[in-house]
Amino acid sequence: MALIQIKNTTTTSKYNYEPADQGSDYLNTMELNLGFIGGGNMSTAIVKGIIKSGVHPASKIWVAGPHIENLKHWSDMGTNVTSENGVVFDNCDMIFLGVKVNKLQSAIQDIKLTAKSTAKEVLFVSMLAGVQIKDLHETINSHLPGVKASVIRIMPNTPMTVGAGICLYTPDHTVMQSKCLILEKLVSGSALCEKVPEEYMDSLGALTACGPAYMYVVIEALADGAVKQGVPRAMAMRHAAQMVVGSGHMVLQSGKHPGLLKDEVCSPGGSTICGITALENGKLRATLINALELSTIRNKELGKK
Ligand SMILES: NC(=O)c1ccc[n+]([C@@H]2O[C@H](COP(=O)([O-])OP(=O)(O)OC[C@H]3O[C@@H](n4cnc5c(N)ncnc54)[C@H](OP(=O)(O)O)[C@@H]3O)[C@@H](O)[C@H]2O)c1
Repeated sequence: MALIQIKNTTTTSKYNYEPADQGSDYLNTMELNLGFIGGGNMSTAIVKGIIKSGVHPASKIWVAGPHIENLKHWSDMGTNVTSENGVVFDNCDMIFLGVKVNKLQSAIQDIKLTAKSTAKEVLFVSMLAGVQIKDLHETINSHLPGVKASVIRIMPNTPMTVGAGICLYTPDHTVMQSKCLILEKLVSGSALCEKVPEEYMDSLGALTACGPAYMYVVIEALADGAVKQGVPRAMAMRHAAQMVVGSGHMVLQSGKHPGLLKDEVCSPGGSTICGITALENGKLRATLINALELSTIRNKELGKK
């Protein structure tokens, strides 16, 4: 089954930095030691994308988590695994923060307790939903005053695992263009990587990172509908998923408004418009708009905890 393979757009929005320093850092990406603090679902999706796309060797990736037994899949991928966040900190120049929001303080404290030295320059890449760049700096500065930290906030999504993800990012004002390009290079094999203003992180991030769960519900429900009409479950699921993939491709590749694409499928008096009537009666649009609003509100709440 064909999957959406979105290559990096090499961002062209007005939020791009001027290419002030696209130099050796960018060219030497493969030389970097990449770290992950927290090796759960999202970090795993990112690292799988990086390794699959061959953009960085597993031997130069480090991960830390409190339960080493939960990191077996990382050792299987050939990465370096440790239970001490300080080991990742000592070895790595660019460190992804992949813990739950309520574990941020303890994760940073663990760096302080277990690192050999905390006097160094580090680029932290935070995937923590809702946590603003200024709060990340505050936490890092309060526990690791000797660290010269810069921060890129990202909002990735789990479809990065299969090379069809999205990774939004916002750098702080100290992050050089070359560092943004390194991030883009690392994730662009598995995600559409786009720089956005931080104010969109909670809302657009809700769409891109929570959205896959909404779509799984849609796919499951559509398959249920076909099963109700007598189609075998596995066949129904396969076709529901591929239909959603194809519809996304149509929007991206045709450049047409989805309303127009919908009209093109709805013949007068036909079967599709009958189905659309049911969707409108069920308030599908309002439901999705409300879903996004609640996810955005929750993102903001999480960041304040
Ligand atoms: N999942 C998504 O779709 C998604 C999308 C965008 C952003 N995010 C963000 O990504 C972050 C991680 O989410 P997730 O879904 O990957 O959660 P997860 O699967 O629960 O992963 C969290 C990981 O952090 C580890 N951990 C806990 N305390 C730690 C500490 N003190 N030091 C180092 N590691 C520690 C956990 O290890 P143990 O399991 O061994 O305790 C676990 O492996 C969250 O902040 C979330 O907001 C997630």
